[in-house]
Amino acid sequence: MKPFLFLLFPVIAFAEPSSLIEATKGKFEMGVGINDRIPEMKEEWPLLKKHFHLITPENCMKPDAIQRKKGVFNFKRADAFVSFAGEQGYGVVGHTLVWAKDDRTPAWFYLDDEGKPLNRDKLLARMKLHIDTVVGRYKGKIAMWDVVNEALHDGEEFLRPSGWTKACGEDFIAKAFEYAHAADPKALLIYNDYNNELSKKRAKMDRLIRSLKAKKVPIHAIGLQGHYTIDRIPFEELEATLKWAQSLDMQVVVSELDIDMIPRGRWWADGNIHREEMAKINPYPDGCPPELLKKQAEQYAQLFEIFNRYSDSIARISFWNLHDGHSWLNDFPWKRVNHPLLFDRERNEKPAYHAVIQALQKTGN
Ligand code: XIL
Repeated sequence: MKPFLFLLFPVIAFAEPSSLIEATKGKFEMGVGINDRIPEMKEEWPLLKKHFHLITPENCMKPDAIQRKKGVFNFKRADAFVSFAGEQGYGVVGHTLVWAKDDRTPAWFYLDDEGKPLNRDKLLARMKLHIDTVVGRYKGKIAMWDVVNEALHDGEEFLRPSGWTKACGEDFIAKAFEYAHAADPKALLIYNDYNNELSKKRAKMDRLIRSLKAKKVPIHAIGLQGHYTIDRIPFEELEATLKWAQSLDMQVVVSELDIDMIPRGRWWADGNIHREEMAKINPYPDGCPPELLKKQAEQYAQLFEIFNRYSDSIARISFWNLHDGHSWLNDFPWKRVNHPLLFDRERNEKPAYHAVIQALQKTGN
């Protein structure tokens, strides 16, 4: 027996933590954006329970889901989601109160009954009513809110032009945070965006955060969506952004993490001329090749080594979707079989899962 025990010992001593929750204990909270219908998807519950304790509804709390028509609030899905979370012991991340993109905001929001643009005061009153109603309804049940989503411009301007900027300039952002804070003073309030770790957008975010802080606006964290693409992950820029956040004493949340295995950047390039050709690209319909899974594992590990080093300023890391079969990247921006997450379609742990767990075991900061 003795030699056996000797052999077993190192295995036990270095056994992998058995879940993401265990591996991230004391570092940051583990979250995931999930299908709004999770209360009915019992088959998904065990994987969810094992690895995550914070959940974000994928769509049902967005402005066009909650108030598609003026004054008609639809809380059916959101209520069911929040009750599910309460019953099962999950924290909830609310997403999102103001999506500063015209194609994501119901058109009526900006217009009066004759179809003319509202002035600043009237538009802000509408925003306040929306925020009061939604945040107020779930007061004490939603731990963190993405208050404003995707307001920074991708090109040369500061903010993305929208009905909001037209009527209110940049003020709509400060107001959204003030209204949200008044409606639930205990919620952690987040400014969320994509590509905001890249230096050009980070500079805009710096301007935005400094201006909000100077006005004593209650903003508590920066959300880095973290929608990355294989072989194009901006590791250095990410680290620079985490350092920047530390220098401003801002908390960070990684809000929508995934690694697209079928690069999509060209979809928006050169005046959209590649779309027809790209819509046919579907290289891995029968599974992701092992060498790519290995690459993905290495790149996820590199990400988590960085997160680990900055865990003091990272409040939460959320993946965007539970497993590959649920990923939004199977449909966006065109239909393809994608493999961006830590669990495959059969809910099995991928090489990336083990790489992340190992990366988390390295000493942090
Ligand atoms: C996506 C959802 O996952 C899709 O189901 C929906 O069709 C479109 O929106 N950034 C965000 C999220 O802030 O709300 C988006 O979610 C993904 C990009």
